[in-house]
Amino acid sequence: MIKIAVFASGTGTNFVALAQHIKHHRLPIQITHLICDQPQATVITRAREFKVPVWVHQLKEFKDKTEYEQTILQCLQEDQVQLIVLAGYMRIVTNTLLNAYPRAILNIHPALLPAFPGRHGIEDALLAGVKITGVTIHYVDAGVDSGPIIAQQPVKVLPHDDLASLANRIHQVEHQLYFDSLCQVLQDKKLLK
Ligand code: GAR
Repeated sequence: MIKIAVFASGTGTNFVALAQHIKHHRLPIQITHLICDQPQATVITRAREFKVPVWVHQLKEFKDKTEYEQTILQCLQEDQVQLIVLAGYMRIVTNTLLNAYPRAILNIHPALLPAFPGRHGIEDALLAGVKITGVTIHYVDAGVDSGPIIAQQPVKVLPHDDLASLANRIHQVEHQLYFDSLCQVLQDKKLLK
């Protein structure tokens, strides 16, 4: 079994899409944990529906970010997690996790990076008036939505788009592209056939 951990802070539609794809394709991938930093996040309920163990703690419960990440790392290492998948995890990952998982932490971003990084990628693209935005899957480094790009898919901004309509089309692309990219990465690492 390939063991992955999903980190998320919000709604969890990407978590659900990944869990459903894995189940549907009967892949030998186990989501060993949902790591969540927001006790009220909807993703927690969704993970429990898939019987995925949830680790939920706020950063403020710890002395500092290092202690917070060390506690997470211990939890992942106990279960021999091989890959970390960030799915709407709204924190910068720092050296404790980056050094333990070199080129083994993935992130999804709702824009064509390096354009529109940060928390509001969809809104920022809409406000900038671009005609094409999209989705990026990339390896995580110490920056904000930076790191080597794995895959990108464009999404057209339509003349009458508002935030909700554009976000809806971007999420649809995310839900397929993240799964495809995860499989590609696992195949490249010779973990999946
Ligand atoms: C997704 O759109 C993801 O691309 C974005 O958070 C959303 C989470 O949605 N991530 C970022 O903006 C990272 N900078 P979800 O909770 O429904 O999966």
